[in-house]
Amino acid sequence: MRSNIDYNKKVLEHFENPRNMGEMKNPDAEATVGNPRCGDVLKIMLKIRDDKIKDIKFQTMGCVAAIATSSMATKIVKGKTINEAKKITNVDVAKALGELPPIKIHCSNLAADALRKAIENWKKFD
Ligand code: FES
Repeated sequence: MRSNIDYNKKVLEHFENPRNMGEMKNPDAEATVGNPRCGDVLKIMLKIRDDKIKDIKFQTMGCVAAIATSSMATKIVKGKTINEAKKITNVDVAKALGELPPIKIHCSNLAADALRKAIENWKKFD
């Protein structure tokens, strides 16, 4: 599926071959966030060992940019410590993808927000 928005090659590559997309059994933490601008939803699931993100999965009912940014965000944080991971911002994710069309910047908030919320949820129950 292609959209008529002008995405760069890297964004399209992550959309067509998303990393870490799917279900996770018995995650140590998870969070679901919605994008108030479009109603799209993203769920992030984490396995955490020794304060590091050992595994991460996402599921989304989102657009091309939401899928590509989720893919990139999960790729960036896998293996990082919790402290490193919670500092990742939507700007870091968008930069790692090269760029996002300005009207799709709001989509990049989903992955960073869901990740931070999942880490907060984990800390509550840890
Ligand atoms: S349009 Fe909803 S996340 Fe992109």
